[in-house]
Amino acid sequence: MAEGSHLFVQRIDTPAERRQELLAGLLDRPARIPPKFFYDAQGSALYEAICALDEYYPPRTEAAIFDRYQRDIAAALPREAQFVDLGCGDGAKAWRWIEALGVQRYVGVDIAEPWLRATLQRGAHRFPQVSFDGVVTDFTRGLSLQSVLRPDQPCVFFYPGSSIGNFEPAVALRLLREMRHHLRGADRLLIGVDTPKPMAPLLAAYDDALGVTAAFNRNVLRVVNRELGSDFPLVQFDHRAVFNDAHSRIEMHLVANRPTQVRLADGLQRRFDAGEAIVTEYSYKHSAEAFAQLLAEAGFGAVRHWTDEQRWFGVFVAAPGAVSS
Ligand code: AVI
Repeated sequence: MAEGSHLFVQRIDTPAERRQELLAGLLDRPARIPPKFFYDAQGSALYEAICALDEYYPPRTEAAIFDRYQRDIAAALPREAQFVDLGCGDGAKAWRWIEALGVQRYVGVDIAEPWLRATLQRGAHRFPQVSFDGVVTDFTRGLSLQSVLRPDQPCVFFYPGSSIGNFEPAVALRLLREMRHHLRGADRLLIGVDTPKPMAPLLAAYDDALGVTAAFNRNVLRVVNRELGSDFPLVQFDHRAVFNDAHSRIEMHLVANRPTQVRLADGLQRRFDAGEAIVTEYSYKHSAEAFAQLLAEAGFGAVRHWTDEQRWFGVFVAAPGAVSS
């Protein structure tokens, strides 16, 4: 890792906790696999490939909003701040803001330590004037960065890509509240959110012609087999993406295409009937109004919002409200 960088290791699940979480989900009705299990090395590579697909509009739409409104957005954010990149991955989305805001300290937060180390190394090489630190944590289980952040420097919390959409509203609200609790005065949250849109592009984004999303979805069964020692036959599960109107969310399922008996672990088995689904992901689509409301409930005050011409994606800058809820 780059000289002068610090890596703070907070709480990540033990293998036993991961197994327990997987087993609880797989024995539930309907069966569930938490989406965090998508992202092994192969799943992360497939997700990168999804982001390059014509059908998967969120990354390019968000980037176009950033391109078009970068100055306005930057004017709504503090300068010379600590830039907290939540779920930073390769950090690529943050780099433009480091330059635009004269960021002094970058704090990458991610569950995957090797990736985080590589990101800090690359960032420090590219921006030698900036301090690069990292926090290894699964922040979906609780976000607590107070001991890592410098109290005398403003913060920008950055959560792009509509990752917030992968949480059920109550969990998203909890996470936003936890972000809010870190912010004071000039500190801001910069967050990207996917919105409801016509069904054809929405469904195509989650069921592309090349089958990359299908491979990404099915790959989670490889991860499960590795973690549990289970024997899910991948060819017996089909990818399905549906829009659940009542909840305004895309749901990704893996559907058994014939009766399938699976050995899970510890002598536990599960039979799937033909047509029975495992739920692997929800991706909520929040309207600008609904998301502004969620931010208000989480204790944010003034909110600014930018969107594209089709209103397919929203970028929000939110200031901490007067009273922290
Ligand atoms: C990471 N997350 C915002 C993506 C989404 O759109 O919900 C994950 C994804 N699943 C299928 N395609 C992309």
